[in-house]
Amino acid sequence: MGTHSNFAAFPGRYPATRLRRNRHDDWTRRLVAENTLTVNDLIWPVFVVEGTDQTQEVASMPGVRRFSVDRLSEAVGRAVELGIPAISLFPSIDPALKTPDGREASNPDNLVCRAVREIKAAHPQIGIMCDVALDPFNSDGHDGVVVDGYVANDLTVEMLIRQAVNQARAGCDLLGPSDMMDGRIGAIRQGLDEAGFQHVRLISYAAKYASAFYGPFRDAIGSGGALKGDKKTYQMNPANSDEALRECALDVAEGADMLMVKPGLPYLDIIRRVKETFGLPTTAYQVSGEYAMIRAAADNGWLDGEAAAMESLMAFKRAGADAVLTYFALDVAQRLKTG
Ligand code: PBG
Repeated sequence: MGTHSNFAAFPGRYPATRLRRNRHDDWTRRLVAENTLTVNDLIWPVFVVEGTDQTQEVASMPGVRRFSVDRLSEAVGRAVELGIPAISLFPSIDPALKTPDGREASNPDNLVCRAVREIKAAHPQIGIMCDVALDPFNSDGHDGVVVDGYVANDLTVEMLIRQAVNQARAGCDLLGPSDMMDGRIGAIRQGLDEAGFQHVRLISYAAKYASAFYGPFRDAIGSGGALKGDKKTYQMNPANSDEALRECALDVAEGADMLMVKPGLPYLDIIRRVKETFGLPTTAYQVSGEYAMIRAAADNGWLDGEAAAMESLMAFKRAGADAVLTYFALDVAQRLKTG
């Protein structure tokens, strides 16, 4: 590049500091980058459905599919090849198996457990995370047991312990309680330890907000139509931030190994506060609605979807996240590999 003469603009007093110098070319920009995104930062959420030979597209999440158990090894194989460290399984349960107490969650042969065993056998090197919450199994679409119109905390925690131990027994490595009941991290930790699963890690959805951005996910697992009311008596109010730190403090004291903030992009301030306050491995969930917004705009030609996805993931890193659950995981890993 030639000389850029500015003497007409700054006669005799050029600015001493020109921040544009460090942005001058690609190698300088790479050299001074403060954050990096790598494949090691990604967790891929995977939807599982009953049946055989199924790969169903989720209508509200173009590009995202539900896989039947027999198609999972192939799908997860791609994640393994790309070097993605972990996947997170979400089952879409047959409505006939849903009950008010969500007891299918503790059936050793339920869809999640079969999926875990299938993946463990085919790909022992990838980490398997499972949600701990009753919504996929509950006929009211709630994360817990509804008694007189209210999600009963302590009764739900008992069911969650059973669900957690059941999933650990199937081979799950990392359990993510996403139910927001009080006291569940300590209770689940105790339950796992008593059952001999000391090594199974807990990633607590500690700061989980009552969010409109979960809409497409509820379609994907088929809990949306069933949901009676909303989840505001257990998920957090989007107006609150100090409360997120109280949630995290309890979960850390009760034995959480990692913390999660959810949703992601609208809550970057919470990620930053959580990381700075506790210093635990902190993850963010770029949820279904965040994915759907970027995809919808990209599919309409309104923005460059790939660039927007990469930028949003870098924003999580900048905010302090150590890892991100994202439906873009496969595309992003591919892009990071090929450059
Ligand atoms: C339920 C659960 C939800 C998500 C993950 N686990 C939805 C909810 O709380 O209703 C949402 C994830 C997404 O939107 O991508 N325990």
